[in-house]
Amino acid sequence: MKALVLSGGKGTRLRPITHTMAKQLVPVANEPILGYVFQHLEDAGIKEVGVIVAPETQEDVRAFLKEGKRWKLKVTYILQDQPLGLAHAVKTAKPFLGDSPFVMYLGDNLLAEGIKGYRERFLEEKLDAFLFLKEVDNPSSFGVAVLDKKGRITKLIEKPKNPPSNLALVGIYFFSPRIHEAIDRIKPSARGELEITDAIQELMNMKGQVKGHKLEGWWLDTGKKDDFLAANTIVLDDYVKRNVCGQCDAQSQIIGRVSLGTGVKVVNSTIRGPVVIGEEAEIIDSFIGPYTTIGPHTRVFHSVVEHSVILNHCLIENIPRLEDSLIGRESRVILGQKQSKALRLLIGDNGVVEV
Ligand code: DAU
Repeated sequence: MKALVLSGGKGTRLRPITHTMAKQLVPVANEPILGYVFQHLEDAGIKEVGVIVAPETQEDVRAFLKEGKRWKLKVTYILQDQPLGLAHAVKTAKPFLGDSPFVMYLGDNLLAEGIKGYRERFLEEKLDAFLFLKEVDNPSSFGVAVLDKKGRITKLIEKPKNPPSNLALVGIYFFSPRIHEAIDRIKPSARGELEITDAIQELMNMKGQVKGHKLEGWWLDTGKKDDFLAANTIVLDDYVKRNVCGQCDAQSQIIGRVSLGTGVKVVNSTIRGPVVIGEEAEIIDSFIGPYTTIGPHTRVFHSVVEHSVILNHCLIENIPRLEDSLIGRESRVILGQKQSKALRLLIGDNGVVEV
């Protein structure tokens, strides 16, 4: 079985971070989301992966996947010129997929348990589509499934205004090659995309075998800032182990599950886990509170930071309290002269400042 990872598209919902970065590469607990996806595929025994890339972000995606050659997966890059929909991505990948069954994994989806074991179930039951479902509070933001009394899927609708259920389609799908025929039969939706949800509905109309499975563990679509901070919180809770290397002076306290990268310097500071701090970061005269990720080479001086994600090469200086924040790469947040009431800002497109 092959895998198709979707790492194209436009990251409009996580702007401004995604103005300069593929949304699949935004790090959660200092690991790009695509890294978790690849790990899950390798754990499930997949050997061959096609990666859909967009012209604007393909170089960064390729560079990340090649870096350190961490996975034993054979990767083929497939360029999708425009983000014309998930089913369009499958169509573009047809020469790679051939007649093989495959698992399609959206590169911005993150889930607790991975997909180990489900491949076998899909193949044994000879299904045409095997879907994951999860109850959500905001079903109109997703593809939504309607089930009958026996738990069989009867209908699928993409982002309905009046959702008929609270069961969202998770961004991981197992398909038989019959999906290609279904995709050939559908037309673009009102938003101009070839929707995979419509293709699966068509597969059901063609009497294909379609089954859903309700996920128990957490699932995160890392679309917006608050979802993204929630993803960081859950991943820190689940994955972080205490690993205190680097240099910490005698005046510093490292409490609980804190993971420090190589070359981290901590001086006269308290770090209360769960916290991940990337390599070569410096924490001086500061407090880093729970559920915070500090990127590599970032410096925090005389500040308090809690429940936040600060990406790499940033400077946070003299900030009495920074919380619930997502700070992009190479940003500086500095409190200038304390007697001055003026704010001096240099904010990129779509920035948000709450004072
Ligand atoms: O996250 C789950 C949801 O994913 C499902 O519930 C929906 O049914 C499904 O349509 C999809 O909805 P989104 O609106 O979240 O999809 P998005 O446009 O964000 O794209 C998902 C991923 O696929 C993202 O990593 C970008 C990539 N992509 C997207 C499109 C439209 C491509 O590679 N090519 C594309 O043409």
